[in-house]
Amino acid sequence: MSFKAVVKGVGSYLPAQVVTNEDLARRVDTSDEWITERTGIRQRCIAAEGELTSDLAVGAAKRAMDHAKLGPEDIDLVIVATATPDMTFPATAAIVQAKLGIRQGAAFDIHAVCTGFVYALSTAEKFLASGQHRQALVIGAETFSRILDWEDRTTCVLFGDGAGAMVLSAVPEEETDGKGIISSCLRCDGSMVDLLYVDGGVSSTQTAGHLRMQGNKVFREAVNRISSAMMEAAKEAGIEPSEIDIFVPHQANQRIIDGVVRKLGIGKERVISTIAKHGNTSAASIPLAFDSALQDGRIKSGDLVMLEGMGGGLTWGAALLRY
Ligand code: ACO
Repeated sequence: MSFKAVVKGVGSYLPAQVVTNEDLARRVDTSDEWITERTGIRQRCIAAEGELTSDLAVGAAKRAMDHAKLGPEDIDLVIVATATPDMTFPATAAIVQAKLGIRQGAAFDIHAVCTGFVYALSTAEKFLASGQHRQALVIGAETFSRILDWEDRTTCVLFGDGAGAMVLSAVPEEETDGKGIISSCLRCDGSMVDLLYVDGGVSSTQTAGHLRMQGNKVFREAVNRISSAMMEAAKEAGIEPSEIDIFVPHQANQRIIDGVVRKLGIGKERVISTIAKHGNTSAASIPLAFDSALQDGRIKSGDLVMLEGMGGGLTWGAALLRY
């Protein structure tokens, strides 16, 4: 029997503390005008002291499981996409599994920075399609506030904390009604590490380090790479990008999103943008934006939805699904 990975539930979670551009302008030499014009970001949420990536992940996961009407006994695969794990080991997925009371199946993290959710979704799809696992919880969760250099205005204004989750079920193909993950495209070019990295690590410095980015160089790479991954995912599915009902991009910069939309001829009314409210939440940004569009009714059952991400690595990728 062949199975498809169908989205059964979606949820998200944001920390309570909101930090506006004006708040940041009191800390570093920046302005609301600069941040809004260059990025589209107006505010971001920051985790409270003691609030961990796994806590945000659990908040999002519980909402996704409620939405799917599934309990801990139903989930047999937990994948957490994160670049800001609670601990060096075990995986944050193992901690999340325990906090949710899931006692069976597999749990592991995926580390592809801002492309993490696309990598995790595509991985879960393969596990479910194989028939070895039945219900997967796929989470993107980050506390990037912990790896920011709060003195560096070129990076600290861009990021926020948060989590988003999806529950996917393995459904026999003839019962899907065309729903489920249709195609994906994952890419990495490790030769561009120096454009975007964290200057610490277990093996190198024994510290967590701080995020460093040559933002304008990343910007120059973004539109073409993201567009080509989306084209590949569309081609594999046998559709044109113009046929996409809803586009849920990674929320790094409104100008990158606008560039991709222009290049691929996607109507602006089909684009989900939450960057103003959330900032760049890395692996959490796509499921956070997806959930927000579901809540306000912009994503409807049967919609053809394209997701894309790009981040440290460099990694980039896209995934196409029918919701
Ligand atoms: N406030 C005020 N001025 C600033 C700020 C700030 N917060 N930050 C930088 N500037 C200044 C710079 O110093 C520079 O001044 P100068 O001209 O006097 O030297 C000027 O603004 C322009 O700087 P640029 O870096 O060229 O600005 P740019 O238009 O490229 O915007 C940005 C910067 C927003 C970072 C943009 O390049 C970007 O979004 N890049 C892509 C980021 C991204 O997509 N990252 C991938 C995902 S992240 C991940 O994977 C973890």
